[in-house]
Amino acid sequence: MITKILTNTAEGIETAAEYIKSGKTVVFPTETVYGLGANALDENAVKKIFEAKGRPSDNPLIVHISSIEMLDDIAENISDDAKKLMDKFWPGPLTLIFKKKANIPNNVTAGLSTVAVRFPSSNTAYELIEKAGVPIAAPSANLSGKPSPTRFSHSYEDLNGRVDAMIKGESCEVGVESTVLDVSGDTPVLLRPGKITLEKIQTLLSEVVVGSSELSDNQTPMSPGMKYKHYAPKAEVIILKGSKPQIKEYIKNEIDEKLNDSAEKKISVLTFKENVAEFSDLCTTVSFGSLTDSSEVMSNLFNSLRELDDMDVDIIYAPEISDIGEWRAVQNRLYKAAGGNIIDLNEAAVTAQAEKISESDNIAAAVNENSITEIIDEEKAENNSEEELKTILFICTGNTCRSPMAEGIFNAEAEKEGIPFRASSAGTYAYNNLPVSENSEKAMREIGLDISKHKSRQITRTMLSQADLILTMTEEHTEFLNTVVPEHSKKIMTVAKYIDLDISVEDPYGNNLDEYIRCRNQLQKIIKLIIMKLKKNGGC
Ligand code: TXA
Ligand code: MG
Repeated sequence: MITKILTNTAEGIETAAEYIKSGKTVVFPTETVYGLGANALDENAVKKIFEAKGRPSDNPLIVHISSIEMLDDIAENISDDAKKLMDKFWPGPLTLIFKKKANIPNNVTAGLSTVAVRFPSSNTAYELIEKAGVPIAAPSANLSGKPSPTRFSHSYEDLNGRVDAMIKGESCEVGVESTVLDVSGDTPVLLRPGKITLEKIQTLLSEVVVGSSELSDNQTPMSPGMKYKHYAPKAEVIILKGSKPQIKEYIKNEIDEKLNDSAEKKISVLTFKENVAEFSDLCTTVSFGSLTDSSEVMSNLFNSLRELDDMDVDIIYAPEISDIGEWRAVQNRLYKAAGGNIIDLNEAAVTAQAEKISESDNIAAAVNENSITEIIDEEKAENNSEEELKTILFICTGNTCRSPMAEGIFNAEAEKEGIPFRASSAGTYAYNNLPVSENSEKAMREIGLDISKHKSRQITRTMLSQADLILTMTEEHTEFLNTVVPEHSKKIMTVAKYIDLDISVEDPYGNNLDEYIRCRNQLQKIIKLIIMKLKKNGGC
């Protein structure tokens, strides 16, 4: 098939619209990624999309519209929540899932009773739909399984000769696919994170559930696309969790081993602009933007993965990414590219420290001398009060996953060991009175602890001043608390810092049970050591 390349002009778009009307396929730019479109009301035209991409037929497509009237033709039962979201975020990078009307062919929705709809803000996309006069079904314009295309050249490389026409347009500003939110049921479910963040959606809706991206074999996927290993470059992507020195050390060792191994794999690092210098003397290093600019990283991510593929690297080491705001979308795409390939250098460090301590009679030789009792005595002298039980406050972000587990583990151990400490927990950005996350509860139940009664709490000044020791999950939490209550900075540190380790306990929020169990295991190990230290230091 000869693919017609069209310019991004009124004339080019007019021609593309004619192609769509006559049942042909057209690649076009949108603000998120390039799309591969066809008339959404024409079953035969839609079939060509699946063929061109090599897309499994059980993965439904997003239908693109250019007016709310078009929505009324294809979807029904538009809820009040959905209307609020449409008012605020359309046109833009948010896809909503509704109950479908009968005129949408079955192959668009892969037989589901719902349809995904998006009103793009890109001018070219808008003009194309307007001129074609029909809704356009379009997945990302890449070969199935490859990173989504954010430049014309990406789509050209994947689909030239496989589609009828392509509009050569601008690079995509957003750079990751739209946020997908299912509003067809009682509670909205976030199926794919994107530029329109969970936090932004939460400002409009009273309840949003984060869909699980992991599926067991017999489960029907909520969003069929989630079961496929998407966004994968040819190279193997591996996420390294740990501090910069840990990561550098690990990569150094890998390179030495690989070179000895005549296999000679070409190793590369994908990282933040600020960290490039750290690795560039070791191996090929590509930056995808600044640590402080999630929009920049989002817009460069897929291009960087393709760039590394062009350099023929075999392994791409990438950093772990937080799930706050837009970072959640970056995390999601990068973790999918890695297909679950995550190496936790922190966990290895905890295990090594635990071994060191258990081998040693003298705990003080293994952990630092920074004594909790000294800190407490000082605080007590200032407050001039005596209390029976000393209190430890565990802090995470939402107080529904990590810190409630830490609290539960600590209290059970403290009681068993007979030390006069009790723990509570709170979050830096928490809602009050939310139940503990289901997976945290399950992970704790597995070790015989029941934390189902826990209710989330937002930190308060009183809470922070009353606690004898405040232990956070990550340095970010510590930094945050230090800006809120600098007067208490002496008693604030990460759980790991207290046992002299430079690691963080990462958030399993939104992940599957395995991640929660990993997190629980990490907390169990750390807290055992904390309690050993408290005992040793004469806490009782
Ligand atoms: O930004 C975007 O959304 C881009 C541009 C071209 O608009 N499109 C895009 O389409 O990313 P695609 O096909 O690569 O991803 C569509 C996602 C898939 O994960 C699919 O499973 C999900 O949306 N989806 C589509 N219809 C659905 C439905 N009825 N229920 C649940 N998930 C659905
Ligand atoms: Mg796609």
